[in-house]
Amino acid sequence: MPAAVITGASQGLGLAMARALTGRGWDLIVDARHAAQLTSAVGGLATVTAIPGDVTDPAHRAAIAASAAPAGRLDLLMNNASRLGPSPLPALRGYPLDELADVYQTNVLAPLALIQLLAGPLTAAGGMVVNVSSDAATDAYPGWGGYGSAKAALDQLTAVLATEEPALRWYAFDPGDMRTAMHQRAFPGEDISDRPEPEVAGAALLRLLSQRPPSGRYRASDYPEASRAPGTQRGPAVTR
Ligand SMILES: NC(=O)c1ccc[n+]([C@@H]2O[C@H](COP(=O)([O-])OP(=O)(O)OC[C@H]3O[C@@H](n4cnc5c(N)ncnc54)[C@H](OP(=O)(O)O)[C@@H]3O)[C@@H](O)[C@H]2O)c1
Repeated sequence: MPAAVITGASQGLGLAMARALTGRGWDLIVDARHAAQLTSAVGGLATVTAIPGDVTDPAHRAAIAASAAPAGRLDLLMNNASRLGPSPLPALRGYPLDELADVYQTNVLAPLALIQLLAGPLTAAGGMVVNVSSDAATDAYPGWGGYGSAKAALDQLTAVLATEEPALRWYAFDPGDMRTAMHQRAFPGEDISDRPEPEVAGAALLRLLSQRPPSGRYRASDYPEASRAPGTQRGPAVTR
């Protein structure tokens, strides 16, 4: 049975992927900070081990690694948990640096720390690492400098790791707009009901994982046939 670690799986894209992969027979280890919400979200899913905690906490990351260790192999690490930063999004001139440090801790350092901890079992499986990115990593939008620069750093870590660890597949994955809590925080007060559900990007990511293309940066929109799968809804592209 293939095994994966997915961070940030109590809602949004992480939960969509947890549901999809357990439905395909995967064993999962998942996390999120709010224990009750995580348990309620994945409690009904067989073959899921929920470990509540914050990815920026070294002890929590060690607990994830300890849970993955007995199997000796790990097929997928999906670094999905992410921090947007303050809402409304502040311009860089006034961006609070303590908030920026928190964004980098969650979006850059914690994913790399998990990669370091799980590299052994990932290598044993010839596994894949998905670091969830954003178009804010490559395009410049006012207000998105904190989050976007952190995602750009994560993209670059992904690209360098692909050269250093060619036995693994390394993917920076840009899901595009999704109708989620994070997206609503990014656009406070706006009606985001035209954005696609996270299952649309999830379908694209499933396609990517099954095709196992060369390491690189991929967008959900690279897999339009998956995004148009029955039961998914597609809204117009906006930004981020
Ligand atoms: N939504 C979009 O339009 C969009 C666009 C481009 C890229 N993305 C990226 O897609 C990914 C998923 O986003 P989403 O919109 O699905 O987010 P979401 O619905 O807000 O869900 C985020 C998940 O991560 C968990 N989480 C947040 N901080 C965490 C931490 N420090 N430690 C552990 N878990 C944490 C949350 O639970 P707790 O709050 O309980 O911790 C939740 O389960 C992110 O990497 C995001 O940057 C999103």
